[in-house]
Amino acid sequence: MAKHLITSALPYANGPIHFGHIAGAYLPADIYNRFLRQKGEEVIYICGTDEYGVAITINAEKAGVPYKEYVDKNHALIKAFFDKLNIRFDHFSRTTIPEHAALAQEFFLALHEKGHIKPAVEAQFFCVTCNRFLADRYVSGTCPKCGAANVRGDECTKCGEWLDPSKIVNPSCKVCGKTPEIRQTTQYFLDLKAFAPRLKEWLESKKDWKPNVKNKALSLIEEGLVERAITRDISWGVPVPLEEAKGKVLYVWFDAPIGYISATMEWAKLAGKPEAWKDWWLDKDTKLVHFIGKDNIIFHTIVWPAMLMGQDKQYIIPDNVPGNEFYNLEGRQFSKSDGWYIDTEDFFSKYGVDALRYAIASNGPETSDSQFTWEDFQGRNNELADSLGNLVNRCFSFMKKNFEGKIPAIASELTAEDKALLDSFAPAFDEVGKSYSAYRVRQAVSQAMALGHAANKYVNDTAPWKLRKTDLARCGTVLNVASRAIISVAILMYPVIPDTALKILEKAGLKPDGKAPEFKPFAGDLNNMPLGADDTLLFAKIMDDQIKLEVEKLKASEKPA
Ligand code: MF3
Ligand code: ZN
Repeated sequence: MAKHLITSALPYANGPIHFGHIAGAYLPADIYNRFLRQKGEEVIYICGTDEYGVAITINAEKAGVPYKEYVDKNHALIKAFFDKLNIRFDHFSRTTIPEHAALAQEFFLALHEKGHIKPAVEAQFFCVTCNRFLADRYVSGTCPKCGAANVRGDECTKCGEWLDPSKIVNPSCKVCGKTPEIRQTTQYFLDLKAFAPRLKEWLESKKDWKPNVKNKALSLIEEGLVERAITRDISWGVPVPLEEAKGKVLYVWFDAPIGYISATMEWAKLAGKPEAWKDWWLDKDTKLVHFIGKDNIIFHTIVWPAMLMGQDKQYIIPDNVPGNEFYNLEGRQFSKSDGWYIDTEDFFSKYGVDALRYAIASNGPETSDSQFTWEDFQGRNNELADSLGNLVNRCFSFMKKNFEGKIPAIASELTAEDKALLDSFAPAFDEVGKSYSAYRVRQAVSQAMALGHAANKYVNDTAPWKLRKTDLARCGTVLNVASRAIISVAILMYPVIPDTALKILEKAGLKPDGKAPEFKPFAGDLNNMPLGADDTLLFAKIMDDQIKLEVEKLKASEKPA
């Protein structure tokens, strides 16, 4: 039987996570993970912070804080944020743990020994004022590929190209603004070309990948893979494990994905089974799935698989890389430094976690960019409140009032209407399950909610509040059937809104005890089951004036470009 190893892109320990990250790499993975657990599959979900690299050193220097202290703080913040959002990793590690450096060096040496990594002297920008080589984002300028201005040295934010920092046009030092000079230095280059045939064959065999991911990867191979420098002249990183390369470190994009493995090693060690990581990474029955945003496609479909292929150990390579597009905020990229962001703490205290999870899941950037707008959020929150929240509330409080707080037994012959609703559960589970399996969360949500709408319609049409006076047995039957529908919707929606789903099951008296409910139509006996004690509403509607305030607040915090 297959087992599943799920990862989300390791976030840089470089400041807070925003909804854009969540929509791209974390919520879809968490949903997939929860769904697989509901199906009883064997699965682990691994992540951690990416703690090296120039994105981090620049900001730590700006803040005047030692690198380690800076990443310690951000690691803790990010971890707490994921906890809050109910992103449920089996382990959340970091790339500064000692076993990570050791493993990254092992990866380097294996590739080096096979001749896939070679040194070469290269012209590199050197800032005389700052007295250092301008690695990666220490230099900015014009992208040599697409011509976009003001891009950072290692990745073009416009066209997504992986750049060699020495190829930037019109370079300037990010720290002092001066034009750097060219100096010679030795770097180590990874020969990706050697892996091209194998990568191509592997990618072409992937029939169920998202076309955006697969096409991007194949077209990169088509354009021709070039040798890439995977070392840098900076002090913060994994030391290059060669005598003659003293003072150099591995490029962050070389060490970071290895973090998926070192995090699994740490997970195994903490569980008291230090060898258990091998059951995942060295077992061909493991399905490795990397959830990422689109800016990470090249690294997860070309560089990382090549690094794995070049090892002596028989590592698995990714089974799928469900990459998502970008998720913006009211027409612009989320950016705390530009004042274009949402204070997450404030957000959760006002609107709750599941409303956000639902809003993102039902409008995620699966095949094209999408965005958070306050108006859209209001609509989706209110849709939850109106359909799911209201359905639960009116049925359960009606039973509390009129049936001594119990779900009444089926006490009359089932009608065609009852049967139609009951018979729709199995196909709904089938459809929704297929959508979750295919990383189509938007579709899963709309299929699951369709059952909620059908249940609402059923309750409106059968009108139990009228039946109570005319036909109490029939009234009980209707409420029993409606309760079954509510429970089914909760189970279907559990991956997306786990807290709410569990709350609904508790309200129904099922005592889920925090555990993921099995992914199948509820078949248990509900007759005369006492409902749970909790009477609180699941969702509050958001009013227009509230949204107006939020939009004004956002506009007021925006800094001029
Ligand atoms: N830190 C990178 C980013 O935020 C992602 C690293 S993913 C890994 O874009 F695979 F390298 F770990
Ligand atoms: Zn400088």
